[in-house]
Amino acid sequence: MNYENIHIIEEPELLANARNPKGELGEKLIEKMNINHEGLAQWSLSHIKITRNDKILDIGCGGGVNVHRFLQITDNIVYGLDYSKVACEKSCLMNEDAICEGRCEIIQGSVSSMPFDDNTFDIVTAFETVYFWPDFLNDLKEVFRILKYDGMIFIANEALPKENDERQMELIELLDMNIYSQEQLKDYLQKAGFSDININVKESRDSFTGEDADWICITAKK
Ligand SMILES: C[S@@+](CC[C@H](N)C(=O)[O-])C[C@H]1O[C@@H](n2cnc3c(N)ncnc32)[C@H](O)[C@@H]1O
Repeated sequence: MNYENIHIIEEPELLANARNPKGELGEKLIEKMNINHEGLAQWSLSHIKITRNDKILDIGCGGGVNVHRFLQITDNIVYGLDYSKVACEKSCLMNEDAICEGRCEIIQGSVSSMPFDDNTFDIVTAFETVYFWPDFLNDLKEVFRILKYDGMIFIANEALPKENDERQMELIELLDMNIYSQEQLKDYLQKAGFSDININVKESRDSFTGEDADWICITAKK
């Protein structure tokens, strides 16, 4: 990656790892994300109800903080999936005890083809990751496949599209990412077969820069 055209973003080499954390910088970014994404996780999860029986998968689990959180809420097994080796290693470390007890599994793999049977999960979560999914509609259909009937997808993002925002444009270029609007998220979810779509938006701050940012969390049912 050529970072010469990236002017506004601090530490572009570090942030470039958000798409697929690798090596030492990947580890460092995961440690930062574990802390910085806590606000988004707490706010967004306040909009859903998780019961002690729910079987949960967290896609793009990064450092495994949300897997760890879900282990305190449900008595069922909790799964994390991420295609980054470093992320899976970090998630395993964070959830070592639960893995030893057979209550947690961390799987290295892509959202596009997940090693789970149809109708497996009550809840599938995706924090700060859908921006990077390679084929969003088909990836949502893959989530739909593994959810139980009446199961729920939950998406939480710290960004909505901002017009003429130079930093956001640089970020999109740096990370080759898609920042979806509320309408786009709803449209993709409907096309993938989901219904009962519920959207919450909050004016807040980007957890890395402190700049104004809109947070969104969205749930939908199979
Ligand atoms: C910005 S990080 C967010 C990590 C974590 N969810 C959090 O909130 O801190 C995005 C994560 O999504 C993962 N990811 C991106 N594309 C993926 C894909 N196609 N399949 C699985 N994981 C993916 C990355 O490896 C990375 O760990």
